[in-house]
Amino acid sequence: MITTRFTSQFGLSVPIALAPMAAFADGRLAGAVSQAGGLGILGAGYSDSDWLDTQFAIAAGTRVGVGFIAWKLAERPELLDLVLDHEPAAVVLSFGDPTPFAERIHTAKVPLFVQVNDLDEARRAIDVGVDVLVAQGGEAGGHGKGIRSTFTLVPEVADLVADQAPNTLVLAAGGVADGRGLAAALSLGADGALVGSRLWAAQESPVNPAARDRALAAGSDDTVRSTVFDIVRGYPWPQGYGGRVLRNDFVRRWHGNETALQTNLVATQSDYRAAVEASDFDTAAVHISEAVGIIRDNPTAAAVIERMELEAAAILGRLSYAAQ
Ligand SMILES: Cc1cc2nc3c(=O)[nH]c(=O)nc-3n(C[C@H](O)[C@H](O)[C@H](O)COP(=O)(O)O)c2cc1C
Repeated sequence: MITTRFTSQFGLSVPIALAPMAAFADGRLAGAVSQAGGLGILGAGYSDSDWLDTQFAIAAGTRVGVGFIAWKLAERPELLDLVLDHEPAAVVLSFGDPTPFAERIHTAKVPLFVQVNDLDEARRAIDVGVDVLVAQGGEAGGHGKGIRSTFTLVPEVADLVADQAPNTLVLAAGGVADGRGLAAALSLGADGALVGSRLWAAQESPVNPAARDRALAAGSDDTVRSTVFDIVRGYPWPQGYGGRVLRNDFVRRWHGNETALQTNLVATQSDYRAAVEASDFDTAAVHISEAVGIIRDNPTAAAVIERMELEAAAILGRLSYAAQ
């Protein structure tokens, strides 16, 4: 129904890719997105080779890609070879320098996606021959630099690409959670959207139901970008990155008090682990988009995608009719 360079080049029926959300974008969810006509992408995040093999097996019969956190991949680069042996539909590199990995991905003839937060990162990705640039605005759930909004970053990246690398595609990421967002992404010059939080709340997602129910009841003012959960989990994210999360008691206590959190780390970590074990989301993290306020139910991934497609097509149809 909506045809773009992204749907044509990747054999999709809808210009939507699943965001490579660490552990949440698993074989079941990625397979469901691909089956619904989008591009399913596994979130390799902090996972290991066993997890990847298992998820490829679960998604078997569908073409899925894999997304890596670049600074984490640099700690165990052998995972890239494992993934390339599976002949993935794409490799996505986010949050770090794609340069050390780009050549291996090109040699394997696998499309390289790079998720970027600003124009300098977009230029660096073009320099290493990126096939699909994902422009991530600060609305996005999960990690990012959060320095730019989707609404201004996407058209600037689209202009940069048109000028310097016209064969490169652009996807918008951050805050796209319904057909209005998809239509907006296309209107801003993107070839499609990379959707995280809306599909995180889909039926096939492995999200804890207690976390999902909190998100479904939350409003967009209830999220904040913070480093406190990286500190307590001991994840060494590079300077400048934070994760967009739901505000909860843990955030209220430590956000803005990161030095005190570091000082009390040992005791806090053991309380934190107990809270995760008990599914206590007053303490445990829920990474989610600023679009949480328009995510209100948990249908199947296919229903989410169909709804977005129909709504976007209706909006774009009205716009083109009005322009005649
Ligand atoms: C729960 C969650 C986990 C995420 N984990 C990753 C990750 O491991 N790697 C990555 O590249 N992006 C990750 N992201 C960010 C997504 O790639 C994407 O930029 C974001 O979901 C888009 O914004 P949206 O959530 O508003 O759709 C994550 C997002 C969420 C919500």
